Amino acid sequence: MTSPTALQAARRRTFAIISHPDAGKTTLTENILLAGGAIRAAGAVRARGENRRTRSDWMKIERERGISVSASVMTFDHDGKMFNLLDTPGHEDFSEDTYRTLTAADAAIMVLDAAKGIEPQTLKLFEVCRLRDIPIITFINKMDREAQDPIELLDEIASKLALDPAPLYWPAGSGGRFKGMLDLREGAFIPYAKRTGGAADDEGHPEPVAFDGNSISQFLEDAEKAELEEQAELVGGGYPSFDLQSFLEGHMTPVFFGSALRHFGVKQLLAGIGAYAPAPKTMKAEKGGEPAEVEPGDKEVSGFVFKVQANMDPNHRDRIAMLRLTSGKFTRGMKLKAQNTGRQMSVNAPIMFFASDRELAEEAYAGDVIGIPNHGVLRVGDSLSESGLLRFAGLPNFAPEILRRVRVKDPLKAKHLKKALEGLAEEGVTQLFRPMIGSDFIVGAVGQLQFEVMADRLANEYQLEVIFENSPYAEARWLVGDRADVEDFVSKHKSAMGQDIDEAPVFLGKSAWEIGYVAEKYPKVRFERTKERA
Ligand code: G4P
Repeated sequence: MTSPTALQAARRRTFAIISHPDAGKTTLTENILLAGGAIRAAGAVRARGENRRTRSDWMKIERERGISVSASVMTFDHDGKMFNLLDTPGHEDFSEDTYRTLTAADAAIMVLDAAKGIEPQTLKLFEVCRLRDIPIITFINKMDREAQDPIELLDEIASKLALDPAPLYWPAGSGGRFKGMLDLREGAFIPYAKRTGGAADDEGHPEPVAFDGNSISQFLEDAEKAELEEQAELVGGGYPSFDLQSFLEGHMTPVFFGSALRHFGVKQLLAGIGAYAPAPKTMKAEKGGEPAEVEPGDKEVSGFVFKVQANMDPNHRDRIAMLRLTSGKFTRGMKLKAQNTGRQMSVNAPIMFFASDRELAEEAYAGDVIGIPNHGVLRVGDSLSESGLLRFAGLPNFAPEILRRVRVKDPLKAKHLKKALEGLAEEGVTQLFRPMIGSDFIVGAVGQLQFEVMADRLANEYQLEVIFENSPYAEARWLVGDRADVEDFVSKHKSAMGQDIDEAPVFLGKSAWEIGYVAEKYPKVRFERTKERA
């Protein structure tokens, strides 16, 4: 018999939205929340998107942690399912954060701008999803604008992503001539009500009608109907029909069309997520050093931290660790133990992220995300469980693409700088490397904006004014191999060796060429671009 815990887990749908900036992720997020009944009016999420456009506003928002924390995960109950929408930062400089968030998602919605198709950032994020076996649902957005030929869009998905597109709907026109879409499986036509004046409205669209019934003539001219019929036939012959198994294995993507801004096609997308996106899966783990499998319905509560956010009040250094649950029935006040430190904590004030408000979580199941306030004890990658024996691997740290030496303007504050930099590194804002020789602080980031956020936070939260200088190093690589081999390498390259915040050895190279050179000379040591957090 299936346990109540397993049944609760089975109704969870935890997903993220990936897209290239401007494809419409923010607009779609908001419309999914609207369609799911989590918010009542448009505007809430949208305002955030607009604020993000101007950097100073955006930073202010980020500083007022409340907003970004509550927006990190949005939970809503709809149509018998519990949806957890994980927010990923939009700016490409924050891709590292995005990658980590994807480790907590069971499915991803890939939003494409119908006029642009697959853009560079879409491709990068897609690759992460593929690496992590996250199935992808495609939403082709902005059909209310002039779009590319849908066949070309599908062919692009097939050729660039090596993914079989299975359209579930087919659009009738686009832009000014957009009339709606045909449900390819049900044979129903979903009319699009064109609005004038440009403003989005919540009035909705006419109810679907039978494609071969009489009322279709209200929405399509004869010629338009004939054209759509012909296309549907072509599509039926040219593309495989949707196969759930193939989707779950990452070979196929169901394709939806719509206009997030005009509230069109979002209901269908949400129904698709409910129907096809997988419930939380069995997770591979280690238990007391032995390989183990963790089932969502297991009695023991477990999870891993995929993100840490600084709290709202900069005067208190508390942080919120975002724990993605992997098994069990979590109840408030429960004691959980961190596998790496053995530290036990009573989780008395967990936060659940209901879309409109933050609330205390009374209970949560696999797939859910709870926020655990703490004072920097919990780190990204930590595994928590009741026994404290379970360990989930797989949260990557990425080799930074920019390295800078950081100095504090007031030399008396050097000690504070160390603490502050460690704090930010623990949160995953930037990475910190301490060279073995000398007293420099080298910080690494994937994008330039991360440094600006860092400087801003150091000034505001730690009262430290810092200067970023060119670093003598250009590349950082984590060393992996037998202990003796790594130690041998380290002893011979002390001037180019550093440690990350977990004291793992990192080779700091002056160029990519140098990395290649030493890698060839020391074949027993691997120079990794990513580090899986222990
Ligand atoms: P992002 O989070 O992926 O970066 O995209 P966001 O939702 O912020 O949308 C980017 C722009 O695209 C916005 O326009 C938004 O209104 C528009 N947009 C999103 N979905 C649709 C759609 O379905 N149809 C049309 N026509 N436009 C859409 P903007 O001009 O940058 O901002 P705003 O002036 O509308 O606020």
